[in-house]
Amino acid sequence: MTDQTTRLAVYPGSFDPVTNGHVDIIERGTKIFDRIVVAILVNVEKAPLFTAEERVATAREVFRGKPHVEVDTFQGLLVDYARHRQANVIVRGLRAVSDFEYELQMALMNRRLTQEIETVFMMPAEPYTYVSSRLVKEVFSLGGSVEGLVPASVEAQLRAKHRRLGAQVSTDGNR
Ligand code: PNS
Repeated sequence: MTDQTTRLAVYPGSFDPVTNGHVDIIERGTKIFDRIVVAILVNVEKAPLFTAEERVATAREVFRGKPHVEVDTFQGLLVDYARHRQANVIVRGLRAVSDFEYELQMALMNRRLTQEIETVFMMPAEPYTYVSSRLVKEVFSLGGSVEGLVPASVEAQLRAKHRRLGAQVSTDGNR
């Protein structure tokens, strides 16, 4: 439960996986809000590389030691989740103009669904303006370095996931 004076924000996303851009937004957000909930979408439509459980475990590891950051999952409408958490702010990172159209659509749709919740856009530090979970996964899967773009624990998780997937592919191939 959150009292009236606590400013609780929800930071929703797929977080597949957490990048240093996400971490940067959280760090900036904790200067403005009392608490931030990293709300990981349990997405049945997109096919995430990491399961919801893996994404939660990674995010908890990354934000361990930050008492004002909580990691949770949600399904269904984001505004319903935010209302359920008694949060009146949704935080989204805005990297470049190309993000704007999609983010504007979501923010206005969410506003149409409820007037009680405001979307606040935050800009990450410049070195992260081109970093996305999608590109990190692509570069990593093709053998490129993602050092400095994701927390070290995420890099280790990517390595482990690709090892497992590689092993699975070769086992399947033996059948
Ligand atoms: O990290 P992402 O994939 O850009 O995050 C997108 C997310 C999770 C914020 C968005 O897909 C979402 O809010 N999904 C929940 C469903 C919902 O509420 N849809 C209507 C709002 S436009």
